[in-house]
Amino acid sequence: MPPGSHPETRLELDTMRIRTHAKLNLFLRVLGSRKDGYHDLETILHGVKLFDEIDITTTDDAGVDLQVTCAPGVRGQLSSGEDNLIHRAAEHLVRAGAGKGAAIRLLKRIPIGAGLGGGSANAAGTLVALNELWGHPLNVSELLAAATALGSDVPYCLTGGTALATARGEQVTPLAGPDSLWFVLGISHRPLLTRDVYRRWDGLEASNAGSAALMRALDAGDVAAIAALLHNDLEPAALLLRPELEEGRAALERAGALGTCLSGSGPTWYGLCSDEGHARRTADALGDRFDRVEVVRSSRTCVEHID
Ligand code: C5P
Repeated sequence: MPPGSHPETRLELDTMRIRTHAKLNLFLRVLGSRKDGYHDLETILHGVKLFDEIDITTTDDAGVDLQVTCAPGVRGQLSSGEDNLIHRAAEHLVRAGAGKGAAIRLLKRIPIGAGLGGGSANAAGTLVALNELWGHPLNVSELLAAATALGSDVPYCLTGGTALATARGEQVTPLAGPDSLWFVLGISHRPLLTRDVYRRWDGLEASNAGSAALMRALDAGDVAAIAALLHNDLEPAALLLRPELEEGRAALERAGALGTCLSGSGPTWYGLCSDEGHARRTADALGDRFDRVEVVRSSRTCVEHID
């Protein structure tokens, strides 16, 4: 029985509401392609307060029923079928011997296919919530293995906050980092496929960017230094696939962001700002340059339980 669990209350707990938060990549270096089709990485991830809401109710029949609603401002198609990561995460828990099913409602606020890790966060949240609701059929290492099988960013999402991720992204080390950074997100409604961006990177020359200076800046909470050290090796690949994205970066710079960078495989650009006021002024100065603009601050966790 995990610490803090009370069997008498746990049995009655059959619904749970969670929020699952987006991430930004403050640093991403691609070290090389691997035989399994993935790429070895070194990336620093940082959680932000842009979240999806997931309601989970356990049921007696051993199936998974998922309903997806997109909040205003979210475009694109998101399957509610077996290819949705929530569905796959829930099926994993059902197979783990819980012998029950789940009815799951997702309210999507994080843009789809945007490089913000929304689907990975949904998968991590579903694993954590159902594991808790069903009395922990998976131990910590089994949960991590399930997360890794679902996607490269899902292990990071089990914890969230600021972390270094290596290998294909599944080796996660928490990092010291400020939890009060402010960002402006410049969002495009045209998604980019992660695998296409990595495939395009294969034709490019590897960089020798290092993350040590950024880790020191994060540890010191030095916003100006963090802004100067933001880096993403996937930017040239994303720009080759979608040259017009370059205008988004230029717009964020002109609007006054301290530093700008692409998140993950894009197409979302983010600008780091000195504080909330600066972030809101920067967002206002962007006008209608992006399909959608969000002002967000750091989030310490990816999966948040709501009472
Ligand atoms: O792991 P995930 O399913 O999120 O990855 C989606 C795709 O992104 C992979 O199929 C692969 O093409 C690419 N990828 C990669 N190297 C990584 C992570 C993802 O090549 N480290």
